Amino acid sequence: MDGNGRWAKRRFMPRFFGHKQGVDALVRTVLACADRGIEYVTVFAFSSENWKRPTEEVSGLMGLVLVAVTKYLAKLVGQGVRIRIVGDRSQVSEKLRDAWQQAESSTSHNTRITLSVAFNYGGRWDIVQACRRAIEDGVSAHELDEAKLNSYMALSHAPDPDLFIRTGGEVRISNFLLWQAAYSELVFSDCLWPEFSDAELDAALAEFARRDRRFGAVNSNAPSALSNLANGAHGP
Ligand code: IPE
Ligand code: MG
Repeated sequence: MDGNGRWAKRRFMPRFFGHKQGVDALVRTVLACADRGIEYVTVFAFSSENWKRPTEEVSGLMGLVLVAVTKYLAKLVGQGVRIRIVGDRSQVSEKLRDAWQQAESSTSHNTRITLSVAFNYGGRWDIVQACRRAIEDGVSAHELDEAKLNSYMALSHAPDPDLFIRTGGEVRISNFLLWQAAYSELVFSDCLWPEFSDAELDAALAEFARRDRRFGAVNSNAPSALSNLANGAHGP
């Protein structure tokens, strides 16, 4: 979800205003995904590197999470959204940890769509924490394979993403889902995140439908949940 700051700057507004609009765009997009039968959405909300931003912006973002939980949680519960937070919780305030706990527990029974919010997350952090926990569990070198390591990754509750969208015009992955995006179709959009719309989402899905996915093989277009949807098999 990139481009909040630039979106605000273009309107001669403080960056925080862009982040605020970014939360609205997130809620809108998650519901649009659910309407299209998409069952898993994962968003990059705050990276392990975002601590390098000015203190004022960092605390603004932390405060915004609390406001967002208060403002939108009931709506998301009602819309069948299950929320999971992925990332290193050890460095965030107790207040924030409590808000996440509340968001997760009050939506844990929902099954329509799973929204995973990556917060204080980094793809490399995830790989290292998974290795550490596997070692702590006494997993032997012989036992450790891709599936085993994946079971320790922060997104083990979700399938690998079929489609990876980055807004804001940059063409890089920036330490998001390094392990999970091995075979994701990448779509880069110049649209700034606060203005990400249903039309932008549909354009990305149409682009996805045009891709030929071979997963290393010569001609098998192996089916995935999203390719079934793209081919017209409608979800719930
Ligand atoms: C993305 O918007 C939101 C977060 C990383 C929290 P940016 O804040 O990166 O916006 P730009 O890139 O400065 O426009
Ligand atoms: Mg940015």
